[in-house]
Amino acid sequence: MTFDSKEEWKSKIKRVIISEEQIRDVIKKAGAMIDSIYDGSPILLVSILKGSFVFMADVCRQVTVPCEIAFMAAKSYFEGTVSTGHVEITMDLKHDISKYHVVIIEDIIDTGRTLNEIIKILKVRNPISLRVITLLDKPERRVVDLKADYSLFTIPDYFVIGYGLDYGESYRNLPYIAEFAE
Ligand code: IMP
Ligand code: MG
Repeated sequence: MTFDSKEEWKSKIKRVIISEEQIRDVIKKAGAMIDSIYDGSPILLVSILKGSFVFMADVCRQVTVPCEIAFMAAKSYFEGTVSTGHVEITMDLKHDISKYHVVIIEDIIDTGRTLNEIIKILKVRNPISLRVITLLDKPERRVVDLKADYSLFTIPDYFVIGYGLDYGESYRNLPYIAEFAE
């Protein structure tokens, strides 16, 4: 997305809904949750790009047991602003996940369609276990029966930006989560 000025870019940041401090506090709890899975088998943290790259970077540094990091990228097809559930894996894992406890590190669950498809794809590969940690959850918007094992913040139906989340590829670098001014 292009902007005519820095002011125009700034004017779309309506208000901060989750501050850097609030994020920092819950990230510690997410790290502890991942630690508790450890039973001697390796843990694989899987970030779904691009939205969860910031969350992954913070959360993995709170983990104090052996773990490996991997990235997957998926293209979700949308009808207007809503995902259709048709998902194409554009970057796949290289790990044989049958040897790992897999933890999906997700930025946001909205309708749930994208993650639902990714879970189906990963389950076929028989991971030792499969869990989902999401930073944000918009349960009001859900159209499939999907619940994260651990959800850090539940938010109303706002379009949010920052901390990895974008609007037209911009705003991922904001250190907090803000409501986007449509
Ligand atoms: P779902 O398939 O409807 O659950 O949506 C999946 C993807 O839509 C998320 O992984 C995000 O990339 C994107 N998305 C949904 N809501 C928001 C939002 O409020 N801000 C930024 N991206 C969002
Ligand atoms: Mg995402």
